[in-house]
Amino acid sequence: MNTQSISIYYATESGNAESLAGRTSEKLKRLGHEVTVRNVSDISADSLANGGKVIFLVSTWGDGEPPYAAEDFAKEVYAGNLDLANLSFTVLALGDTAYEDFCGFGRKLEEALLRQGGKPFLPRRDLDLDFDAEFEKWSETLSAAL
Ligand SMILES: Cc1cc2nc3c(=O)[nH]c(=O)nc-3n(C[C@H](O)[C@H](O)[C@H](O)COP(=O)(O)O)c2cc1C
Repeated sequence: MNTQSISIYYATESGNAESLAGRTSEKLKRLGHEVTVRNVSDISADSLANGGKVIFLVSTWGDGEPPYAAEDFAKEVYAGNLDLANLSFTVLALGDTAYEDFCGFGRKLEEALLRQGGKPFLPRRDLDLDFDAEFEKWSETLSAAL
């Protein structure tokens, strides 16, 4: 297997995305990959132009909005005019189908990254509240795609 250097960036309000980021990291490390995990509040959107392999694990709050700590990052990415040609990414979005804008932040983040030239290595997945079984499936698909 080809081992890689992978960044996991999460956006969370009540901890689900952070916990899944940790589980994803543990799994990928067991497979021999080198993984770093960071809150999107600790990175600048500009740094995405450096490229690399990035997994975004983000929840949606308010009415289709990012978690509070991710608001500045989201504004930067939405307004950005970056060259993301070297960014290979995927988005795992957490939400609740009871809300009108299901996984709205994950969707808008993906749109903004695509618009700026980012290349998805796996299609976005949107997970509802009872995400455990679907998360496990996604994490198998992810491992195979790397
Ligand atoms: C006040 C509130 C607003 C929410 N708004 C949305 C929303 O607009 N769309 C959506 O898909 N999910 C929404 N959710 C559901 C969360 O995204 C979901 O609970 C998710 O698992 C939280 O992940 P986190 O703990 O990483 O923040 C909302 C939840 C709460 C409590």
